[in-house]
Amino acid sequence: MKPERFASLWGTLAPIGRGAHGYHRFAWSPPELACRDWFAEQAAERGMPVETDRNGNLWAWLGDPGAGDAVVAGSHFDSVPGGGGYDGPLGIVSAFLALDLLRERGLTPARPVGVAAFAEEEGSRFGIACLGSRLMCGALDPERAAALRDPDGVSLAEASGLDPAGFGPDPQRLAGIGAFVELHVEQGRALTAPVGVASAIWPHGRWRLEFAGEGNHAGTTLMADRHDPMLTFAYTVLAANKEARLRGGHATIGRVAAVPNATNAIPASVTGWLDARAADQSTLDGLVEAVTVRATERAGRDGTSVAVTAESVSPVTGFDAALRDRLAALLGGVPVLPTGAGHDAGVLATRVPTAMLFVRNPTGVSHAPGEYATDEDCAAGVGALADVLAELACR
Ligand code: GLV
Ligand code: MN
Ligand code: MN
Ligand code: MN
Repeated sequence: MKPERFASLWGTLAPIGRGAHGYHRFAWSPPELACRDWFAEQAAERGMPVETDRNGNLWAWLGDPGAGDAVVAGSHFDSVPGGGGYDGPLGIVSAFLALDLLRERGLTPARPVGVAAFAEEEGSRFGIACLGSRLMCGALDPERAAALRDPDGVSLAEASGLDPAGFGPDPQRLAGIGAFVELHVEQGRALTAPVGVASAIWPHGRWRLEFAGEGNHAGTTLMADRHDPMLTFAYTVLAANKEARLRGGHATIGRVAAVPNATNAIPASVTGWLDARAADQSTLDGLVEAVTVRATERAGRDGTSVAVTAESVSPVTGFDAALRDRLAALLGGVPVLPTGAGHDAGVLATRVPTAMLFVRNPTGVSHAPGEYATDEDCAAGVGALADVLAELACR
């Protein structure tokens, strides 16, 4: 596909939710709803009926999904706060364009082909990553989902307009899917060719760290009398970084909330969220355990307390080896690489044969406004996805 052709469709979606400080496309926010409208328009232009499933994921179909053995491509529209434009939407734009290429090549799918947009992949609104795909695959308790509230107190049902009684596993839908392929921008600098195939997703998760102390006056409380949870928190941030370096994992505390969050008050409590990842489960377990132990020890010295709660944890995902090898060979021996980023494909992989294609990220920046891929590489990604859909759906 010509880069200009990719850029032309990309240009219709890219402005939605883009601001001076990156993208803010939270699930069911006005920009994300505008992306969903865009999805419906693209599907309509291609004669594809659209449905929203019981968990808020969007589907567009060529052929009757009831026929089974469908091949589905897709990703997500939602972003992290201040995110990039490619993480997610690239996989959806590419899926529609790949279908156009199939048609132009005179290929007619022998199986139903779907384009999917999963809900709340980043967990930016309700805190649980891959919410829509996890619910669909039975990897998240529907009652827990029904109880989720965003920071403004809006429930998942209120935000999505869905019936909470319907949240949960969708075995019939899953049974109709023969293969799922997510094309995604690569998120480090690990891919030096335009396109690659994923081998695995590192085990990873999110832990809430709640530090409690004693709120007090900043001017009158003697330094020796303080029980300052911010100190314990700050120590824990440094400890997490050090433990990750020592052990060869990744640890990030990128979100923090202090109560009461006043300049002239020692906080009563501080909550930080730890994102931890590693190539293998034992390294990840060891990392989280070490952070917990060091935070607890420090809390003892500060006269504070810390409670650690897992919010969402994903074990290692090994993508379907036969599919991975088949696609890498089909695409001419492109690089096969693991990633430390989470994806809906990692959730789907537990239930259906799943593969991922990566498109090169020349800056290595992601989850930030500098996230980028060239039109040439994106167009190469579309071509690769079309080859994959031809192989999987048209033979
Ligand atoms: C999702 O993008 C994640 O890996 O956090
Ligand atoms: Mn992301
Ligand atoms: Mn993503
Ligand atoms: Mn993600």
